[in-house]
Order: sequence, then structure tokens, then C-alpha cells
Amino acid sequence: MMKPAILVARAVFPETIARLREHFEVSDNPDDEVWSKQELSRRLQGKVGALTTGSERIDAELLDAHPQLKLVANMAVGYNNFDVEACTARGVLCTNTPDVLTETTADFGFALMMATARRIAESEHALRRGEWTKWSYDMFIGSDVHGATLGILGMGRIGQAIARRGAHGFGMQVIYHNRSRLDQATEAALNARYVSKEELLREADHLVLVLPYSASSHHAIGEAELALMKPSACLINIARGGIVDDAALVRALAARQIAAAGLDVFENEPALNPALLELPNVVLTPHIASATVATRRAMAELAADNLIAGLGCGPQAGRPPTPINPQVLAG
Ligand code: GLV
Repeated sequence: MMKPAILVARAVFPETIARLREHFEVSDNPDDEVWSKQELSRRLQGKVGALTTGSERIDAELLDAHPQLKLVANMAVGYNNFDVEACTARGVLCTNTPDVLTETTADFGFALMMATARRIAESEHALRRGEWTKWSYDMFIGSDVHGATLGILGMGRIGQAIARRGAHGFGMQVIYHNRSRLDQATEAALNARYVSKEELLREADHLVLVLPYSASSHHAIGEAELALMKPSACLINIARGGIVDDAALVRALAARQIAAAGLDVFENEPALNPALLELPNVVLTPHIASATVATRRAMAELAADNLIAGLGCGPQAGRPPTPINPQVLAG
């Protein structure tokens, strides 16, 4: 019997490709090119499933060109690259990779917060430039993380994992804002207090963004929000580009309206607002919050599990572990 054909749109671990080949005719992308929309569409010809990353946009136009497509498996927890409504309307199952990256991403959020507050990147760059000639009382003085007020916007799995680190590891006061409030027991366990968005902005010493990107979170942090923050505050974005208005942030950082920012995600990435590169008080990383060997392997395996089970293969046939629109399975 012919195996179903799938597309793996970006390079992944060879072991993952080998596993997928047990079930599918696999077209892959070992050179890891980022295909244009047209090229992606061309490669999807005849494919019933696709393993995608945040770089591949799956929208109505693409779906209409490929009525044979049944499943798109994102190797990411965020899925703003999918038009889920359009997929659901056409009976296309969408899956993502939650849970397996929660702790790793929370570690990175903390690392970025600490690097930003303690000016690690900025001071390291100065040292490399040969500018360290003497000790000075105020050389690269930053702000404390321990004991400070940790603000979290978006209190899902990753937000809660960051709160736990802050409350229990660093003695921080945790405040958060979210679409829905946590139950009392979870709030108590995290020592986290629910506040309005305005209070969050006004009170946080370190504000970490961990909310999903959608039309309603577009520019959730813009000029007006930055103006409410403390001049000593640090802003950390490990969520998605577009949640922060990067141009407004550049202005706020340049004017020292806030102290510093740590950014792992950007509007229009991998292109950056060039002004960010000129600012000393921002730590910039290339969207690597989930990038550890163990976690990237787990994400690739989970995406493969979703493809295999979701396309009716293997022992879990028909029961993909992490569907985004499970109503498609029922329908
Ligand atoms: C990465 O950004 C992810 O959504 O997993």
C-alpha cells in the first residue's frame, strides 16, 4: 500500500525524519530553506500532512489550493501562523507542542530577565571592546531581581512556571494579569496576586510577557503602556513579536522612560527594527527560548506523534496528543 505523503517544511532532527518515514512518504527540507508562500504551496502538492514551524503561514488561500491537506503540525507552542478558523472550517486538524517546552522557556525568560536587569550583555560587550580599565562603584550597576516585584502578562503554563521561579527561588512579589484569573489554590501556590493591566504596568520592576499573539494582543505594549511603567523597570518579551510596538519601545528605551528590555522575539523577525541594535540597554536574542537539545527533541517528537496519530497511523491512530481544534476529530 502507498504510504500517505507529508511535507516537513523545515529541517528537523534526522531521527524524527526517520520515524516519520516509517509511516509516510516524506518530502523534507534538509537545507532548511525558508520557502516563499509560492514555494511552500508547490511543495504541498499531494501532501496530506505537514510539519511546520512559526515561519510557515497556513491560511485560507493555501488551504483552498490544497483540499487534500488534512493536518498541520506546528513545532511550536504558539500557532499564530495558523488561521485555525479557516483550518477548522475545512476539516484540517491543527496541532502544536505545548507542555514539553514550558520549563525550558521559563528558564530562558528568567535568564533574559537577569541578563537585562544585571546588564550582562552590555558589560560583556564593553569588556570585549577592551573598555574595562578599572573598577568603579557605578560601573554597570543594574537592578535586583531577588525581592523585586515580578509582573507577568499572560499567566498560562509558561507564565506560571516563571512565577514559581520568582516566588520560590528569588523571593519576588508576583503580580499578574491574564484574560482569566487563576483559581485561588493556584494563586496561593504561586504566591501570585491578580491585578489590572494598569496596576501591573505601574507596579512591576520586571515585566515578563508570555501571552499568545492574536489580533487582540497586537501592540498590547505600546507607547501608552510603556509610559505607565517605572523608569527603573525592565521589560522582557519571550512571547511573540507584534505584542510589543517595537518602534515605541525603541523610543522609550532611548529616552530611559524604562531602564532596559530583553527581547527574544521581534516584529518582522528575523528582520529587526535597526534602532534596537544601536541601543545599549536592550538584550537581543534570536527567538531561542525553547532551544535546548532535550526540549527541541521533545518538540520534534511531539509534532511527529501528532502527525502519525492524527493521520491515522501507529498505536494512537485517531488520537493525536495535542490538537488545537479537536472538534475536527469529532466531525
Ligand atoms: C516558539 O516561539 C513557540 O511558540 O514554541
